[in-house]
Amino acid sequence: TAALADIDPSRLKVTKRTDLKPQPDLEGLAFGRVFTDHMLTIPWTAESGWDAPQITPYGPLHLEPSSTVLHYAQTLFEGMKAYKNAEGKVTLFRPDMNMKRMITSASRIALPTFNGDALLDLIKQLIRLDAHWIPERPGYSLYIRPTLIGTQRAIGVGPPDEALLFVILSPVGPYYKTGFKPVALHATTEYSRAAPGGTGAFKLGANYAPGVVPQREAAVHGYSQNLWLHGPEHYLTEVGTMNMFVAIRNAQGVAELITPPLDGMILPGVTRDSVLSIAREHASGAHKISGLPDQLIVSERPVTMPEVKQALKDGALLELFGAGTAAIISPVDRVGYLGDDLIIPTGPDGLGPLSKPILAEIQGRQRGEIPSSWSVA
Ligand code: COI
Repeated sequence: TAALADIDPSRLKVTKRTDLKPQPDLEGLAFGRVFTDHMLTIPWTAESGWDAPQITPYGPLHLEPSSTVLHYAQTLFEGMKAYKNAEGKVTLFRPDMNMKRMITSASRIALPTFNGDALLDLIKQLIRLDAHWIPERPGYSLYIRPTLIGTQRAIGVGPPDEALLFVILSPVGPYYKTGFKPVALHATTEYSRAAPGGTGAFKLGANYAPGVVPQREAAVHGYSQNLWLHGPEHYLTEVGTMNMFVAIRNAQGVAELITPPLDGMILPGVTRDSVLSIAREHASGAHKISGLPDQLIVSERPVTMPEVKQALKDGALLELFGAGTAAIISPVDRVGYLGDDLIIPTGPDGLGPLSKPILAEIQGRQRGEIPSSWSVA
């Protein structure tokens, strides 16, 4: 039997739209509501592999109601961003990480894998075509949403014999209208986001729908997001749809930046990795970040609510924040936990002593103002 075809950018067919859409007003731009003129689609079949990629006008997909994605959540996605600098140069931020993770997610739910470089090549062609949609304004970017779904037209549960990969683009501003204003969290003990052996470490659609009701319940009580806990020890795991960091001053007076380890329940976030890498480069002296304390301990280790409560009591809690592609850094000023409100310290502009310089470094690298291998043309 012939080998199944991989994604092949040389087979791309482009159909441009003639009636270009009006550009949105950046002022009132809400996250992920406006999409650009074009999209990329690549169908797959078990029989012949990846078919010719197509760029077409953005529009509805045609799916039969029997499509397995509509029944069994055979869907995964990525989130990444493109930036345009003042000279009009377009760059992506660490897209290789998203390609790798997308392939890992596909493997977990028996969707087809592919050559990540080939998909990235096609995404770049889509972005080039819609480049006039990338806002140049600081804090703004083009959010890229690659998605892969199972489209088998039969409702048996198994590896689908058909699939569809598509990529859509959305110009976005700051995730929260309030910028980096701190948010309040409900430390959720009655629901879990992920469990050992589950799918929490993969970017699957199935991980997100079950979070909506807990989020809504938190909102009723005046909290904007859930602080997801795990186990009777109340390990902190994630914040809403983001990874979580906490900073504590240890007994020797040294700041420790802590995030839970990738133990199968934590999503391997690109922003999580960026925060850790920047903090470690600083701590080792490889690349000092101005504003960070000279001595810094960077830990991927479990951290519990009792430890956070004790640190708060001792005056040793420095800050708590979420980290994700959409919001980048989201500082936290209050955590509702077992009926008590813990007031978390924040800096004058919301950001804490570690998150403020780290965010500045991430944004500098994203916009290409700070040269790094993370910003790619
Ligand atoms: C994030 O970037 O933090 C996300 O998880 C994407 C979100 C819109 C679901």
